[in-house]
Amino acid sequence: MTAAADWTGKVGDTWAREWQRTEQSFVDLEQALARAILSVTPTSGQFLDLGCGVGTTAAGIAAARPDATVTGIDLSPALVATAQARHTAANLRFVAGDALGGSVDQPLDLIFSRHGVMFFADPVAAFTHLRARCSAGAPLVFSCFRARRHNAWAAELGAATGQPIDDDRAYTPGPFAFADRDFVADLLARAGWQGASAATVDFDYVAGTGADDAAALADALAFFTRIGPAAAAIRACSDHARAELLERIGTRLARYARHGRVAMPASAWIWTARA
Ligand SMILES: C[S@@+](CC[C@H](N)C(=O)[O-])C[C@H]1O[C@@H](n2cnc3c(N)ncnc32)[C@H](O)[C@@H]1O
Repeated sequence: MTAAADWTGKVGDTWAREWQRTEQSFVDLEQALARAILSVTPTSGQFLDLGCGVGTTAAGIAAARPDATVTGIDLSPALVATAQARHTAANLRFVAGDALGGSVDQPLDLIFSRHGVMFFADPVAAFTHLRARCSAGAPLVFSCFRARRHNAWAAELGAATGQPIDDDRAYTPGPFAFADRDFVADLLARAGWQGASAATVDFDYVAGTGADDAAALADALAFFTRIGPAAAAIRACSDHARAELLERIGTRLARYARHGRVAMPASAWIWTARA
C-alpha cells in the first residue's frame, strides 16, 4: 500500500531523487497518454495534472495548448520543486498540495494524470469531489497499471521477493489499486463521471539503461532497490540475505537486457470520461 501520507515524505523524496529513472521507465507510456489527453483537450481553459510528479505530462500539454493554463499539483514538495526547476512555461505552474484541497482555480476544463489517481483513501468520494470542480462535459484522462500478470516487471519482482503475483480485489491505495477495469468503471459511474471507457496500452517499462547490457542491468538493480515493489523487501534484508535477493532479481532482469536497455513488458489502462 502507498497512501497519500507516504508521498508527502519519504516516498516522494525518493521519487524526486530518482526522477530521471522514473521518467525513463514511463517514456513509452507518456507518448500514448499524451496522445489520448490531446485527443480530448480543449484549446483553452483551466487544466489540472493530478499527481504531476516532476511535471513531464503537464509541460507537454501546456506546450500543445498555449492558450490554456495548466496547473500541476502533487503531494510531494520535493517532486514539485523538481517540476518547477525543470519547466518554466508562462502558462504552467506547479503547486505542492492535495488535489482534493483548495489550491486550484476552478472550474476545471480538463483533469489528467499519469498514474496519480490510485492513492485516494476513498476513491468514490475523491472522484465525486473532482467532478464537482469541473465545468460541464470537462474531460478526465488518466493512466494506471493493469494487473501484475500483465506487467512482467512487477511479476518478476514479485516472484523474486516471494510476494503474490496478482492483486486481490479489495481496494488498497497503491500502484495496482485500479488494475480491475470493472472496479474503476463502477467507481467512476458512482462518482457521476459519464461515458467512461478504458483503452489498453502495452509498453516497454525501461528499468535501466547503460553503455552495455551489464551497465543497464546495474542501473535497473539500482532503480528497483530504491523504487517499486521490491525496494522495501530489499531494505528489510540482512546484508547476506540482501545479496542473495539482489542476485535473484538480477538473474530475472538479465533476461530483458538487450542493446544497453532493460526493457520489461508493461501494460496500463488509459481511462477517459466526462464530467
Ligand atoms: C506514481 S506517482 C506518478 C507521478 C507522475 N505523474 C509520473 O508519472 O511520474 C503518483 C503521484 O501522485 C501524487 N498524488 C497522489 N495522491 C495525490 C493527491 N491527492 N493530490 C496530489 N497528488 C497526489 C503523489 O504524490 C505522486 O507523486
